Amino acid sequence: MARIEKDYRRAVIYQIYVKSFCDSDGDGLGDLPGIIGKLDYLERLGVDYLWLTPFFPSPQHDNGYDVSDYCAVDPRYGTMADFDELVAKAAGKGMGIMLDMVLCHTSVEHEWFRRACAGEERYQRYYILRDGRGASGPGDPGEPPTNWQCAFGGSAWKWEPRLGKWYLHLHDVSQPDLDWANPEVRAALADVVRFWRERGVTGFRFDVINLISKPEVFEDVPGSGAACRALVADGPHVHEYLQELVASAGIDGMITVGEMASTDLANCIRYTRPEDHELSMSFSFHHLKVDYAGGDKWTLMEPDIARLRETLRTWQEGMQAGGGWNALFWDNHDQPRAITRFGGRAGVGERGGSWERVGKMLAVCDFFMKGTPYIYQGDELGMTNAGYTSIEQYDDVESHNNYRLLMERGATADEALAVVGERSRDNGRTPMQWSAGPGAGFTTGTPWLEIPATSELVNAEVEVGAEGSLFEFYRVLVALRHELDVVTEGAVRFLDAGDGAPKVIAYERTLGDERLVVACSFDEAPCATADLGVAGYEVLLGTYDDAPSTNELRPYEAVVWRR
Ligand code: GLC
Repeated sequence: MARIEKDYRRAVIYQIYVKSFCDSDGDGLGDLPGIIGKLDYLERLGVDYLWLTPFFPSPQHDNGYDVSDYCAVDPRYGTMADFDELVAKAAGKGMGIMLDMVLCHTSVEHEWFRRACAGEERYQRYYILRDGRGASGPGDPGEPPTNWQCAFGGSAWKWEPRLGKWYLHLHDVSQPDLDWANPEVRAALADVVRFWRERGVTGFRFDVINLISKPEVFEDVPGSGAACRALVADGPHVHEYLQELVASAGIDGMITVGEMASTDLANCIRYTRPEDHELSMSFSFHHLKVDYAGGDKWTLMEPDIARLRETLRTWQEGMQAGGGWNALFWDNHDQPRAITRFGGRAGVGERGGSWERVGKMLAVCDFFMKGTPYIYQGDELGMTNAGYTSIEQYDDVESHNNYRLLMERGATADEALAVVGERSRDNGRTPMQWSAGPGAGFTTGTPWLEIPATSELVNAEVEVGAEGSLFEFYRVLVALRHELDVVTEGAVRFLDAGDGAPKVIAYERTLGDERLVVACSFDEAPCATADLGVAGYEVLLGTYDDAPSTNELRPYEAVVWRR
């Protein structure tokens, strides 16, 4: 079988959240045959690679990011034969498959952890185990070894009586961190990656991969302990471990992306410079924290567009200067929907509302930057937040933990629900909206997560082939990414849109004589823009039906001019 190998800089990647994409057997969960049934749709969109979120056996405490067997398919998602068929059929349509490798931690139900708990020292050395603080002797837990907090709220340590130790879990309590300092662990994980490569996979996404190298000394961090992420991120041996993984799994030159938590520019340059033989590109998240009041995800504020612009500029121009490569995205399965988030919430999901316009503007902003764009399932339809009205409608462990923590800190139930409504990861996990009506064409059964009311209006059935729809707009963008050298190779530089346009993000792309100017308004009101130097240029693309002006942008308008 021909392996799909494309220039990752020219490619567009589509992320499939398997559990919510398409259910072929009516059990309410998406599955691999469901994806096979939608390959024509994906081909029509024109994307090059499909990144599939984990479908490996898992107790699903963190929706499959708690893996209990790395080299098998969870029966709820299909069989290995389904997987092979998916790889072959996608390849037949020119699309490669990228798998999500969760190698920072396992599930507590993974054989390694079970054998560790059963007393096998060899497997105890796979995990990060420590004695408690102030413990009087064996069997006495004492206090957690440090004040570190896990990503989903609460201590990052769990006392395990069978081990007589605390184990570290930077994520859910059911996700013990692996000890990458142990060479046997690194070799076992490289075997996992090699296994999938040999099955025809064309690329990989590595989950929280910059958290694998833990600090030499474990010590308290200031404040509540949440800052431990920054302490653990980009640890002392992370580059060495990644280079070793890439070499020993034999994946150098394949398309790869690392999810980098609390990272910095200098490290992301190193992760992605081709000469370092680590990864093709990196996800960083600073641009999605511009609406966290005081840096806290669970305290709401309006997005700070000036900060968004400055963050994008730093990463665009900085990665370029250092020879690194960005993954470009607004949405994924961990984020609320960007249309709701950056679209002023007004008109979201309503007929004639601004959601479509906001969706087009966000897509333009992303697709013309330097890097590789990702479409998260439903972006191309304009899917918005879940709009749930009760905590019971949420499934995600992080949402439930923080709902409880918010109330412990004094919020009323309604206040806590309002915060979860904005910030829950389930906003991005609602089932794909294929059509109007019950089940949204996602399932004939009861969906594992409730379908938003917006599916009546926002769905593939009405948008595919419809003039002016968001889906058709995305098709144009994907085609332009494939065609335009200036977008793949050109230099990027951010432009000042002037004091009259505080919510406009503008940048230029240049290659030889070619110049594109991109202007995106995050403003719900019209605004006056400074001279962007586009006199005499043609309009390559605009998000309104009629011609744009060169000195004013309409609400949420985006324009691309070309010399
Ligand atoms: C990543 C995943 C997220 C998961 C976490 C722990 O951030 O994207 O969904 O909960 O890692 O594996």
